[in-house]
Amino acid sequence: MKILVINGPNLNLLGEREKDNYGEITLEKINEELKNLAKELQVEIDFFQSNTEGSIVDKIQNAKGIFDGIIINPAAYTHTSIALRDAILAVKIPTIEVHLSNIHSREEFRKYSYTAPVCIGQIAGFKKDSYLLGLRAIVNHLKEC
Ligand code: DQA
Repeated sequence: MKILVINGPNLNLLGEREKDNYGEITLEKINEELKNLAKELQVEIDFFQSNTEGSIVDKIQNAKGIFDGIIINPAAYTHTSIALRDAILAVKIPTIEVHLSNIHSREEFRKYSYTAPVCIGQIAGFKKDSYLLGLRAIVNHLKEC
């Protein structure tokens, strides 16, 4: 089983950016924890981060036939990107959306997600644990398929 973890814009700045919302942890450290959990769950895992919408669309398209599941934090593109939503729909790879912060308790514009309706589900508000819960959830989902 191969899982792809995609992170959108500005998530490369975790650790120095808006610590109240996102915690102190860096993306590198989150990925390290995900790698350890993947080993425990006996699945393969790969990582991709980009600040560019088109590069994320390309990555999702190219994931077809290679990855069985996707965990995505689309960051600000969550609230703007029909292109990401269409890419997830097009490849039909089971996808889980994650957010560090609880997007439903923040500004009004963060409450709507273009991508969540085409995902299996959304995990938000648990800081780095959103990713770890997301990995457990996608693996369980794929095992049940
Ligand atoms: C985020 C929430 C988004 O609204 C924001 O633009 C981000 C991070 C989160 O993980 O909480 O960059 O996706």
